[in-house]
Amino acid sequence: MATYSDALSSYIRQTFAREDEVLAHIRQAIPERGLPAITVQPEEGRFLQFLATVCDSHLALEIGTLGGYSGVWIARGLASGGRLITIEKIPARATVAREHFQLAGVAERVEVRVGNAHDLLPGLGSEGPFDFIFIDAEKQGYPAYLDWAVVNLRPGGVLAAHNAFRHGAVVDPSHHDPATKAIRNFNRRLADHPHLVSAVFPAGDGIAIAVFRGKPRDNC
Ligand SMILES: C[S@@+](CC[C@H](N)C(=O)[O-])C[C@H]1O[C@@H](n2cnc3c(N)ncnc32)[C@H](O)[C@@H]1O
Repeated sequence: MATYSDALSSYIRQTFAREDEVLAHIRQAIPERGLPAITVQPEEGRFLQFLATVCDSHLALEIGTLGGYSGVWIARGLASGGRLITIEKIPARATVAREHFQLAGVAERVEVRVGNAHDLLPGLGSEGPFDFIFIDAEKQGYPAYLDWAVVNLRPGGVLAAHNAFRHGAVVDPSHHDPATKAIRNFNRRLADHPHLVSAVFPAGDGIAIAVFRGKPRDNC
């Protein structure tokens, strides 16, 4: 019998994921400023903060900034002196996000890079390895982001990816659109990857997670 429900979701939000005034303002301001209301939910944001904290994030990466809502949650989970690099392809969204990082008092820890992640990631490898990577950009790109992440996470580093359920489409056989197919492919590869231990956080639209175990040495 399924127990997860809107009531439990609301309970989790009120118990574990209460937004302060800044986060509530940012979530509300994003649609008011003409950006799409597609941020993570508060309980998902809190989970991202938890993950960033638990893997002692000195260097974190987010792919898909929007207006900075999830970025503020992640920034609050960084280790002392830690940094978050977040990538956004639309300059106007990056501008809003920078304002929100200022408002939240995390601007000195967060760098917004503007451009297509597929163009920027190859150059980012030399700045790693990364302790925490959060994927929340276009869904067709998820398999490529996974390939990049397993090369650029440190052993023990954590990968998280939003929309693991794609609002239920992953289990609905009538959905054959490229984005749903990409998420199914991503989830399957994450689950089967020999160098990852993976799971799913089933609140919100699902956050797929994995810890990178490191590659076994050739002579082991
Ligand atoms: C779902 S929103 C991110 C929401 C944000 N993580 C949050 O919860 O507050 C996805 C963002 O990724 C950006 N995006 C999509 N494809 C991208 C790409 N290839 N490179 C960089 N940014 C991309 C979009 O412009 C959009 O702002």
